[in-house]
Amino acid sequence: MSLLSSHIQTSAAEVVKDLFEVEITPETLPVQDTRKDFEGDLTIVVFPLTKFKLGAPPQIAEKLGSALVERLESVTAYNVVKGFLNLSIGDAYWQSFVAEQQNDPDFFATNLGEGQTVVVEYCSPNTNKPLHLGHLRNIVLGYSLTQILQANGFNAIPTCLFNDRGTNISKSMHAYLSSENKETPDSSSRKGDKIVGDYYVKFAGMIEEESKLIMATEGISKDEAAKKAPSQLAINEMTIRWEEGDAEIRALWEQMNAWVYAAYEDTFQRLGISFDRYFYESEVYKRGKETVQEGLEKGAFYHTEDGSVEVDLTAEGMDRKTLLRSNGTSLYITQDLAIAEDKYNEYKMDRSIYVVGNEQDYHFQVLFKVLAKLEKPYAQGLYHMSYGMVDLPSGKMKSREGTTVEIDDLLTELESKAREETLKNLDKLQDMEEAELNALFQKLGTGAVKYFLAKVDPKKRMMFDPKESVSLKGNTGPYIQYAYARIQSIRRNADHIGPYSADLNLEEPLLEAERTLIQVISRYKDVLREAGENYNPALLANYAYELTKEFNRFYRDAPILKSSNPHTSSFRLALASFAGETLKNCMALLGIQMPERM
Ligand code: ARG
Repeated sequence: MSLLSSHIQTSAAEVVKDLFEVEITPETLPVQDTRKDFEGDLTIVVFPLTKFKLGAPPQIAEKLGSALVERLESVTAYNVVKGFLNLSIGDAYWQSFVAEQQNDPDFFATNLGEGQTVVVEYCSPNTNKPLHLGHLRNIVLGYSLTQILQANGFNAIPTCLFNDRGTNISKSMHAYLSSENKETPDSSSRKGDKIVGDYYVKFAGMIEEESKLIMATEGISKDEAAKKAPSQLAINEMTIRWEEGDAEIRALWEQMNAWVYAAYEDTFQRLGISFDRYFYESEVYKRGKETVQEGLEKGAFYHTEDGSVEVDLTAEGMDRKTLLRSNGTSLYITQDLAIAEDKYNEYKMDRSIYVVGNEQDYHFQVLFKVLAKLEKPYAQGLYHMSYGMVDLPSGKMKSREGTTVEIDDLLTELESKAREETLKNLDKLQDMEEAELNALFQKLGTGAVKYFLAKVDPKKRMMFDPKESVSLKGNTGPYIQYAYARIQSIRRNADHIGPYSADLNLEEPLLEAERTLIQVISRYKDVLREAGENYNPALLANYAYELTKEFNRFYRDAPILKSSNPHTSSFRLALASFAGETLKNCMALLGIQMPERM
C-alpha cells in the first residue's frame, strides 16, 4: 500500500474514534484505487463499520468524508456511493510528491527484508552441454529474484550448483574417447560447452546403433538392448572408476569440465550475471551420505532388504523414496542433502530458495520433507521457486537430440533481429556510429528476450516468440527501452529548463495524463514489495509496461520543451525524468539495460 493510502487509513481510524468513539485498527478500513467509472482517486470501504451499529453505511461515509477533507491537505473532495467513500487527491499533493521524491534514492527500495539473509540458487546446469533457452528462463528469474530481494533490503546471495559428475558427463567423455578425431576448443575454435555437448549427443547415437544391433540378434526390446549396449556398460564402469579416483578418468573429466566452465563464464558475462558462490556436486556428493547416516541414527530413515536406504513419506501423501543405493552410490537427492547443509553452515540464512523448473517439483517436496524430518534448523525456510517450460514456435526442445536453442546463438540471433526491426523503424539511427549501434542492438536484443521471459507469470508454461520480442510496439523490452531513450533525449535538449521544486506555481490544474503518470510512479514501491513477497519478477515487468504506456500518453498530451509556462516545463521535465529513473531501476532488477539514445 502506498504511503498516501496508509496515511489516509490511519487518519480515517482517528476520525472514527473522534466522531463515533469506536476504536479500530487502521487495517479495518480497506483503502483501494477508485474504480475508473467513479470520481476520485482513492476509495475507503466503510462496510466493516456496520457491525458497530453507527448508522447506515452511506451516512457513516458522509461524515467520514467531510471530516477527512477538513483534516487532510491531500484530500480535496469526496463523494459517497453506498458504502464506498471516494476521495479526490488534490494537485498540490501530486506536485509535492514529484518535488520531494524525484531525487530520493530510497524511493526505489523497501525495508521488507531488513536483517534477513536469503540464499538463492539458480542456473545450476549439468556440465555436459551448453546453456539453452530453458536455462535462460531460469537465469532471468533467478537473477531478477536476487535483485528484487536486495532492493527489498534482504541480504540475498546468488549461488549456482554445477552437476559436474555422474552418468551425463561420463557419456560425453566416452564419446570423446571413442572418436577418432578428437575435437578440443583449441583444435576447432568452437566453444568448449558445444564440443562437450556434441559428444553427449553423439553418445545417444552410439547407443541407438548398438541397441538396434542387439535387438536384431537377441530379439529383445529396445530398452533391454540399450542396457546391454557396450557404450552403456562402458559409462557405468567409467562412473565407478571416477568415484574411485582413477587418475586418467579424473584428468579427462577435469579437462572437459574446464572447457565447459570457460564457455559458461563467457555466456554469464554476456548476460551480465555472476554468482557469489559455486557449489560442485563432485565436492559434496560424498558428504550427502553422512546426512543419510544421521537420518538412520535418528530413526528417520531405514535400510531396505536389498541394503539401500529409504525414507517413508507415505503418511505425508508421498511415497517411499530411496536416498542411497544398495551399492552405496549416491543419487541426485543425496547431494542436495549436503548442499542444503553447506549453505546453512556458510550463511546461516533465514531462507533458501531454489530456482528450478517444475519438472522437479516432486524432488523438492521430498527434499524439504526429508530435511524437516531431520529437524534441520533451516527446514522451514526452504522454498522451491518452480517455473514452467519454455516452448519455441518450432516445437519442444531436447538436448539429447541436439534440438535445443543455445543461449549464445539465441542472443546473436536476437541482436540481429533487433537491428533489422529497429533500423527499419527509426530513421534517426542512420547517423549513429557502428560501435554505438552494436552496443545498442546488444542491449535491445538481450533486453528483448530477458523481458519476454520475465513478463510471464513464472508458474506458467510459455512460448518464446523471437520476432514478437524485438518489436518496438506492444509489451516488449524494446518498447520500454525506447521510451527511456526518448526521455534521455528530452533531457539532453532541456538545458534551458530549470529544476522543479514544490514552491513553483503551475497556474493550470494538472492534466489527466500528468496526474495518472504520477499515480503510476507512486505505486512503484508497492509493486517492488509485492514482487519481493511473492517472488514474482513478472509484476515488475508488467509495471514497467504500464508505466511506459502512461509516459507515452503524457508525452503526447503534455508538451515539455514547448510549454508556454516555464514552471510547467520544469514540472514536466522533472516528471519525465522521474518516470525514466523509475523505468531504469525497474528494468535493472530484471537484468535489462537501458540505452541513452536510439
Ligand atoms: N542440474 C540440475 C538439472 O539440470 C538442476 C539442479 C537444481 N538444483 C538442485 N539443488 N538440485 O536438472
